[in-house]
Amino acid sequence: QIVYLNGSYLPMMESQISTQDRGFLFGDGVYEVIPVYQGKLFRFDAHIQRLKNSLQATSITNPFNDSEWLEMLENLVAKHDWQDQYIYLQVTRGVQMQRDHLPADCLTPTIYAYTNPLKPVVDNIIQNGIKVVSLDDIRWLRCDIKATTLLPNVMMKLAAKSQGADDAILITREGNISEGTASNTFIVKDGNLITPPNSNEILPGITRMVIESIAAEHNIPMIEKNITLDDLNSADEIWLSSSTKEALPVTQLNGQAVGSGKPGALWLQMREHYQQHKQ
Ligand code: PDD
Repeated sequence: QIVYLNGSYLPMMESQISTQDRGFLFGDGVYEVIPVYQGKLFRFDAHIQRLKNSLQATSITNPFNDSEWLEMLENLVAKHDWQDQYIYLQVTRGVQMQRDHLPADCLTPTIYAYTNPLKPVVDNIIQNGIKVVSLDDIRWLRCDIKATTLLPNVMMKLAAKSQGADDAILITREGNISEGTASNTFIVKDGNLITPPNSNEILPGITRMVIESIAAEHNIPMIEKNITLDDLNSADEIWLSSSTKEALPVTQLNGQAVGSGKPGALWLQMREHYQQHKQ
């Protein structure tokens, strides 16, 4: 497996960074996960725009222009035979010899990217869906930044697992659903597809955006509004969306069946449309 690190393509086993990298010491960095279908980057423009937003919000220098990003990522993809892949791309603020919360001026960002085979979602999930629990969202108030600082997400994922669930849906301090630990949330109620509006409490998901455009194209009524735990409990369907999983059906919430307890009809329809969209 070949990775990209600071201008070089090299075997993963040979890629090394400094222990003084601010990404390592502070989680001082941002990232993207970009799917690749049939060797082509999916929604590159949207992912790069979000990366630029994350870099700007954190005052980390953007080391490349858009065409340089594209060229580097396409080179990386071309070095691997997998038809479908997903790229992990990370930019940290850089290496600073003295640990100091205040970043030194003129640091050189550390750029790292690698790619993985993107496997289709397993049949068992397509047939039976996943189990989630609802948990308090213990994260900060800038969840719109795709930061590498993921300790709360890791803790909530562990908490979900310890309760026998596959994932968690997070509830903000105001009592609204924000998102999953690494995904956006949708519910279906009376034929309407509903998702929380973009805000500082969620990541503006690219898959979420794709689902919205598919809904518009196929006249599926789509509403952006706050969702409460009561709404979640009475939903006909619940979905989680992300670049690596597309839309996933949630069939159990806090030990109770969602709708019929099987993946829902609208989810099945969306799944079909999504496959068309990937080509
Ligand atoms: N995560 N919300 C959070 C907190 C996420 O981490 C992700 C994606 C999403 C969905 O965004 P998108 O549709 O653009 O992938 C929402 C990636 C896949 C990850 O961390 O691995």
